[in-house]
Amino acid sequence: SERDSLFIVSEFANKHYQHNLFNHEEGSIGQSYLKQRGMSAATIKKFELGYSVEAWSDLTDAALKEGYKQHYLEATGLTIVKDDKRYDRFRARVMFPIHNVSGRVVGFGARTLKSNDKKSPKYLNSPESEIYHKSNVLYGLFQAKQAMRMQDMCYLVEGYLDVISLHQGGIENVVSSSGTSLTEGQIKLIARYTHNITVLYDGDAAGIKASLRGIDLILEQGLNVQVVTFPEGEDPDSYIQKVGDTAFKAYVKANAQDFISYKSSIYAEEAKGNPVKKAEAIREIVTSISKIPDSIKRSVFFQSTSLIFDIDEQVLISEYNKMHLQER
Ligand code: UTP
Ligand code: MN
Ligand code: MN
Ligand code: MN
Ligand code: MN
Repeated sequence: SERDSLFIVSEFANKHYQHNLFNHEEGSIGQSYLKQRGMSAATIKKFELGYSVEAWSDLTDAALKEGYKQHYLEATGLTIVKDDKRYDRFRARVMFPIHNVSGRVVGFGARTLKSNDKKSPKYLNSPESEIYHKSNVLYGLFQAKQAMRMQDMCYLVEGYLDVISLHQGGIENVVSSSGTSLTEGQIKLIARYTHNITVLYDGDAAGIKASLRGIDLILEQGLNVQVVTFPEGEDPDSYIQKVGDTAFKAYVKANAQDFISYKSSIYAEEAKGNPVKKAEAIREIVTSISKIPDSIKRSVFFQSTSLIFDIDEQVLISEYNKMHLQER
């Protein structure tokens, strides 16, 4: 079938990129980049990392020569056809194959080796295709799912290298939505293995914003969520590479917060001595609590919010009731 053919050509590309990394004369460039990023040989093999060489149609030519049909190369986005010319989507990049939950390659993420090239994006990704629906795929899930079930918890990170560096440090229950904002479908995938998510987003404005969106979506699905923040400018990858596995694990353990203390810590600074801001912060948290389907959990969280903000629980509940009435 069409789908099978797309899987097969994607696996061909995956093997080709891996082969390039170790056997093509240009491969050493990719190898030294990965080494500089702290990736061990075992990690490179485990995540099937590869390299696309700096040429217009290296992969396309190799695939056509092996008898793969151009149609499938185009349908997976590996080959782009423009003005009757065929060229490779991914050139001179480190390749991260994206596996579906059963371990088949459905697409790629591809990082440029240049540190500050404003002209081309840092990461290029495969387009949507019949086998790659981005909102229903999580990077690393295939490698993480057993550990997620065993630990009954899942770390959620932003990027490919965050997933990979944590694995290398012995933390295997980690997935990433890689480039798309977290979706309901992705949370439902996680929920097959565990109902507990710990969000480890980047310590920058974008990461904080994404975490707030993600929290509400996770609560809505009835899952439990904790949050760990990293020092400004650090992400899980840079931080574990900087401090080492043991210190990283200790940091995560010591800094895991429930969503209420996370949200209140974000708003508390601004709200200091400002009752209007304090009211806004409380309303934000009540909004999050209102997403939780389970009424017992909701009431537990109303209690802790009332303690943190030193406000009568009944006030919170009546605020919740008001919101609820407005929604109907
Ligand atoms: P980041 O900018 O935090 O990148 O984007 P990163 O993962 O830390 O990458 P390194 O450490 O600089 O190599 C987080 C994720 O967003 C997606 C990628 O999935 C990336 O891992 N992204 C980012 C893109 O898809 N395209 C981009 O141009 C940038
Ligand atoms: Mn599908
Ligand atoms: Mn970032
Ligand atoms: Mn990052
Ligand atoms: Mn990073």
